[in-house]
Amino acid sequence: MNKKSFCIANWKMNKSLNESTDFLCQLADKDLSVSQSKIVICPPIIFLDAMMSHNKNHDISFGSQDVSMFKKGSYTGEISIDMLENMGCKWVIIGHSERRQMFFETDDTIGKKMQLLQNSSLNPILCIGESLDEKINGLTSEILEKQINSVFSSIDFKTSKDILIAYEPIWAIGTGVAASINIIKENMKLIKKIINNIDTNNCNIYLLYGGSVNKNNASEIFNLNNVNGFLIGSASLDIESFYNIYKQI
Ligand code: PGA
Repeated sequence: MNKKSFCIANWKMNKSLNESTDFLCQLADKDLSVSQSKIVICPPIIFLDAMMSHNKNHDISFGSQDVSMFKKGSYTGEISIDMLENMGCKWVIIGHSERRQMFFETDDTIGKKMQLLQNSSLNPILCIGESLDEKINGLTSEILEKQINSVFSSIDFKTSKDILIAYEPIWAIGTGVAASINIIKENMKLIKKIINNIDTNNCNIYLLYGGSVNKNNASEIFNLNNVNGFLIGSASLDIESFYNIYKQI
């Protein structure tokens, strides 16, 4: 399949330092020429520097699982965009549903992060997706529209960059059961339509799917028109299952 693609591992709060670097060594030993997909590993932030120093393989890049909405200053525990840039990090996830739900991040917060990101060298991976309640109540399109529009409304990118939008239905995350092909297809079409109506400042927007992606469903989902890859949680923790997905996209 000849489309640009991304295979992104979101390790969340898993793995020790040794396990993280071991994974990297094992991945670097694999034949990465089997796919043209771009590999991005998002380890726990505290291991990012060690992982990057350890990495000798240009096919593998790294991302942060989050970033502060503040530029600098007295914000205990926060990590800034400048700090990530300093380390040579290239990607950052913003708006993951776990941040939205458990750490009360709003569309406004995520919009502020995107505003800071626009003048940085980092590429955003924006997560969007509806909850089960919202799905049941027929609010999916409204929610997706709000999540996208609020983030892009006050953006003016000076330089073109890759922006990944990961559609992750919350009800499919970590459940072992991905959304059906039809639902993914419909909602990707919807997201594409929303994006076509906003000014994305000549940025390259790619859509990813996330939510219980595994080696058994990857190929079928990836074959959908608007899907340019995956944001993978659980299945990215095991080297064989991650590589298996990578091989298929
Ligand atoms: P999952 O997580 O693959 O374990 O469902 C995806 C995510 O949260 O990004």
